Amino acid sequence: MDSSEGLLSAELRLSPSATEVRISPNIYGHFAEHLGRCIYEGLWVGTDSRIPHTRGLRNDVLGALKKIKVPVLRWPGGCFADEYHWRDGIGPRETRPKMINTHWGGVVENNHFGTHEFMDLCEELGARPYICGNVGSGSVREMQEWVEYMTSDADSPMANLRRHNGREQPYKLDYFGVGNESWGCGGNMRPEFYADNYRRYNTFVKNFSGQRVQRIACGANGSDYQWTEVLMSQAARHMDGLSLHYYTLPTNDWSKKGSATEFGEAEWHATLARTLRMEELVSEHGAIMDKYDPERKIGMIVDEWGTWYDAEPGTNPAFLYQQNTLRDALVTAVNLNIFNAHAARVSMANLAQTVNVLQALVLTQHEKMLTTPTYHVFDLYQVHQGGTLLEAHLNGPTYALGATSIPMLHASASLDRTGRCHLSVANLDPRRGARLSVHGMAGYVRAGRLLTAAKMNDCNDFGAEDRVRPLEFSAFRREGARSILELPAKSVVVVEIE
Ligand code: AHR
Repeated sequence: MDSSEGLLSAELRLSPSATEVRISPNIYGHFAEHLGRCIYEGLWVGTDSRIPHTRGLRNDVLGALKKIKVPVLRWPGGCFADEYHWRDGIGPRETRPKMINTHWGGVVENNHFGTHEFMDLCEELGARPYICGNVGSGSVREMQEWVEYMTSDADSPMANLRRHNGREQPYKLDYFGVGNESWGCGGNMRPEFYADNYRRYNTFVKNFSGQRVQRIACGANGSDYQWTEVLMSQAARHMDGLSLHYYTLPTNDWSKKGSATEFGEAEWHATLARTLRMEELVSEHGAIMDKYDPERKIGMIVDEWGTWYDAEPGTNPAFLYQQNTLRDALVTAVNLNIFNAHAARVSMANLAQTVNVLQALVLTQHEKMLTTPTYHVFDLYQVHQGGTLLEAHLNGPTYALGATSIPMLHASASLDRTGRCHLSVANLDPRRGARLSVHGMAGYVRAGRLLTAAKMNDCNDFGAEDRVRPLEFSAFRREGARSILELPAKSVVVVEIE
C-alpha cells in the first residue's frame, strides 16, 4: 500500500488573478471552546500550576501557537457560547459562580477562564479576538453590556467594572459573533426568526472608543442554502460577515463517524472526497452572497471546519478528544487551498479546535505537549498569510477508488510582499507519487518543505512526538523555463519560487 508505484505526470500553470485578491491572514484562524480539555489543561492551567505558565496560560502551548502566527481566535463556543453568561467569568476567580456545561458532558465549569483570561491569551499570541455572544439563552442587555465592558473607555458602569477588575484600558475587540449555530444548539431557530433576532441583538452591539467591531451573523449548516438566502435577503446590510460550518466525517454518519487512527484506504479516500465538498459549499453559498453583495463586502467566515471522528477509545465521548494522523494533514492542506482560492469571499476560517478537541493543533497529557500533523501544515502554509492570490491551473491525474474519483493533486499559490511565490501542493494518493511540471511565473523553485509519513495513519503520540514532522524538500530541478517537482505519495509540499 505504501510503496510508490511510479510517478504520474501533472502540470501546473501559475498566473496572476484577473483582479488582485489578498489572502486574509484570518483564513489561518482557530477556535477554542469550553469543551473537554481545550481550555482547561489545554490552554489554561491556572496561576498555581506546576506546569510552566504565564499568568495561568501554559507556556509550551503558547510557544507552539506563536510559532504558527495564529491571526484570530474564536471563543467561548460553539454550543457553549449560547449558554455562557459573561458576568460569571469576571472578578476574583475564587468567587466566580460555577455552572454546568450541559452541552459537553455536564461537567462543572468554574469560570476561571473568562473575558480577561481570553483577552490576555489573545494579547500574548498577537491574535485578534473573535468573541461569540449568547443569543440562545442570553438577553440583548447582557450582550450589549459585554461589548461595553470590553471596549468602552467612558466613565460608564461597565467600563468602571472592567477597571475595578484590573483592566484600565479598553480591550481591542475585532470580531463579535451574534449567536452560534442558531439553527441547532443555539436555539433551534428558523432562518426568518434568527434573521430578526440577529437584527435586534446586533443593534445593541455598539462601537466604543473609536473601535469598529465587525459583526458576524450565524450562517448555514453545510449545504443549507435556504439559510444563507434568508439571512442575506433580510439582514445583509447589518452584517460584516456570515458564517458557515462544515465538518468532515469519514462515514458521513453521525452515529458512527469512523476512527481517527484505525482506517484503511477506503476511509482515507472517503474522508478526502468529503472534505473536498468544501469547494462546492463555499462556491454555492458564495453565489447566493454575490446576489445580495456583489461587491463582496461581507466576508464568508468558515468559523468551524475540520475532521470529526469517534472519540478516542477510553476517553469521555463528550470531550471530543481524537488523534490526528497524516490524513488530517491532507484534509488541512485541501481546505486551506480552497480557502486561499476563494479568498475574494472567504475572509476568515477557524479550525475546530485548537487543543485536545476534534482536529487539534496541539495535544496535551498533563505536563506533556505535542504538535499534530495538522499543526505542521499550518506551519508550512503560514507563508500564504496576507499574500496575493495566484491562479493555480492544475492538470493532473485522478485518484479513483471504487466508483469515486477525486483529483490526485490539490494546490494553491500566492505572492508575498517581497515578490516571492509560494506554492503548496497536496498529493492525496497514498500509493503513487507525481512528477509536477510548474510554469507560468518567472523564477524557479529554490527551496521547499515536505510533510509525509511511512503510513497513512501515522500520528504523533506521547513517546513518539516527532514521528510526523516537516522535512526539507529537495526533489526539484529546472527544465527549460519550468520547475519539475517529484511529489511523494500522500504528502504535502510547500515550495518557494524565486
Ligand atoms: O466544535 C464542536 C461543536 O460543533 C460546536 O460547539 C458547535 O458549534 C458545533 O456543532
